[in-house]
Amino acid sequence: MKLQQFELERFQSEWEHRVEYNLSESGVEPLRIKDLLDTQELRDRFQDLQLGYSQTNGTIPLREAISYHYHGTTSDQILATSGGAEANFVTTWWLRRENPERNELVFMMPNYMQIGGIWTNLGGKVIPFKLKMDGSKWVPDIKGLKAVVSKKTAAIAICTPNNPTGKILSNEDLRAIVDIANEHEVWIVSDEIYRGAELQDSKAPSMHKLYDRALITSSLSKAYGLPGLRIGWIVCPTPRVALELWTYSDYTTICPAKMSDWLATFALQPDIQAAIEKRTRKVIRGNWAIMEKWIASHSNLMTVVPPEAAAICFIKLKDGINSLDFVLRVRDEKKVLISPGEHFNMPGFIRIGFGSDKEYLEPALQRISELLETY
Ligand SMILES: Cc1ncc(COP(=O)(O)O)c(C=O)c1O
Repeated sequence: MKLQQFELERFQSEWEHRVEYNLSESGVEPLRIKDLLDTQELRDRFQDLQLGYSQTNGTIPLREAISYHYHGTTSDQILATSGGAEANFVTTWWLRRENPERNELVFMMPNYMQIGGIWTNLGGKVIPFKLKMDGSKWVPDIKGLKAVVSKKTAAIAICTPNNPTGKILSNEDLRAIVDIANEHEVWIVSDEIYRGAELQDSKAPSMHKLYDRALITSSLSKAYGLPGLRIGWIVCPTPRVALELWTYSDYTTICPAKMSDWLATFALQPDIQAAIEKRTRKVIRGNWAIMEKWIASHSNLMTVVPPEAAAICFIKLKDGINSLDFVLRVRDEKKVLISPGEHFNMPGFIRIGFGSDKEYLEPALQRISELLETY
């Protein structure tokens, strides 16, 4: 069987460094090392770091720093990984291998297509669980979920806050998903990488503590603006599960990069973490105001359900506009990169990332406007 390609990532990788404006990113403008290490003493400590291998499941200080943010966990329930991508990979591989009699993955859609793609590539069957656009809201189809989960299901994979819509599943939604999973002893994978990047003040509800067969994946790439560190993690219900997953990550990247482990431990200290999250929300709120105004100025050609979190919005184009053609024209004629709905199995939509500096975002949107004038 030919490997199913991860279209979104490949398209971004191929083009993000060849356009003049990249609005395909879903995180906020990344921080610099000097923003994090803002005293000479910190910089000296960092420079003194010896570049040996790091601990393969993440150093104890890093895992302690992560576990602090998941109340009631200990560091031995955490597996540190190289980015959320490895966290999702290891989790999916483990689920597939440990449940050979359960061939199906019920996958929230639209979604970041990694987990579903890996499941397909490992020979499993992916069944969608839909987030439906209902007027001014995205609504999870809980009834539809109930109808498809069975003893053949290994896991339900959700992403909340959701990529690409920015939808936050409510506590009630999460509990309804848990009830359905529990009935058939099904695992839940909750990719919560955008948690902490909410437009509202309160944090998005988490699957943490709601279910004893839940695995939470996350990273520093989105809500923290530190994607270049490539530090992610899996929060496991028990130390035993973390140990099992670790066996899998021994085969992937050996260990997170030593410098990244150190910087991530620092970024996750409660006061630093709070300051980073504050910055993220400020960027997202300020830029969403720009985005919303821009979308309103093209209301004859597009509509959007406003995101509740994440620096992305999933815009529905007017019927008759081919979203992939549109994205290719924006790329080739205006040198701006955005993502087509086709990469989320949702033709007719485009995803625009608005987390960059205002001075970068505005001229990029202006270029897209120029193209829209031809429609
Ligand atoms: C929902 C989701 N999960 C995981 C990832 C991968 O994150 P990382 O850069 O930490 O590997 C992404 C990246 O866009 C994402 O959107």
